[in-house]
Amino acid sequence: MASTTTSILNSVFLFMIIFLGSTLADFNNEFDITWGDGRGKVINRDLLTLSLDKASGSGFESRNEYLFGKIDMQLKLVPGNSAGTVTAYYLSSKGSNWDEIDFEFLGNLSGDPYILHTNVFSQGKGNREQQFYLWFDPTADFHTYSILWNPQRIIFSVDGTPIREFKNAESIGVPFPKDRPMRIHSSLWNADDWATRGGLVKTDWSQAPFTASYRNFKADACVVASGKSSCSGSAASSSGNQAWLSEELDITKQERLRWVQKNYMIYNYCSDSKRFSQGFPPESIRSDYWRSWIIQSRRG
Ligand SMILES: *[C@@H]1O[C@H](CO)[C@@H](O)[C@H](O)[C@H]1NC(C)=O
Repeated sequence: MASTTTSILNSVFLFMIIFLGSTLADFNNEFDITWGDGRGKVINRDLLTLSLDKASGSGFESRNEYLFGKIDMQLKLVPGNSAGTVTAYYLSSKGSNWDEIDFEFLGNLSGDPYILHTNVFSQGKGNREQQFYLWFDPTADFHTYSILWNPQRIIFSVDGTPIREFKNAESIGVPFPKDRPMRIHSSLWNADDWATRGGLVKTDWSQAPFTASYRNFKADACVVASGKSSCSGSAASSSGNQAWLSEELDITKQERLRWVQKNYMIYNYCSDSKRFSQGFPPESIRSDYWRSWIIQSRRG
């Protein structure tokens, strides 16, 4: 009896090892450390760390190029006094008319809040910043930062909670990133001329090296290689569930989004009437919940 139980447990255990082993992405296969002269490291295949000291930061990029995807990564940010440091995690294409989808984490003094800065570039033009505080300490543990990018929308999420949605508004003349494949990039660098309290707080190099960690990378995505997407043609039908390609926010997620925007958003280009005194960008005016937000903040 005991030995039957043991052998069942053994096979369950073996199954779990094989199963988990095949689903956890191996950082060595997915990414190249592109700069930092040894400051970026893959540890045991499923953990990657970047570090920054006075001489240099470091960074990595994905081997694959993606055109649409649902991409999750867990990050644990520089702890303690991280003022002046920026950890950037983003998708970007190449060339002068590049597209880009950005998460940037701006460090702070111990105990003071990080800022999560987001932006969307299409055809080389950004200026669509939204910034947030987080509802947890992003340095104490790993948290999941996700980008859902499909032809209709880009949704930024944190631990499954949407914080920002950028809709395709091409019908009113707003370019949307949908033609240029992008790579995932991340870097840890010194930006103490602007990052913390607008540049007032400088990097304390006595705290170096600063380290950010990455794990549990997961991409349900269309990989583009030699001009062909894995999501078109016969490869697509065999590769299974692509529900994310038309995913949108359900009612519960829309409520979560509003909760974040109401309680944690600290900057929104769509309500910056000083900056856009000549007129707001068209996508800001159209969006329904922004309209009420803008009206409120103008009244306020
Ligand atoms: C750092 O902390 C200060 C004081 O609480 C806050 O005003 C600022 O927004 C925080 N974040 C950054 C990145 O400056």
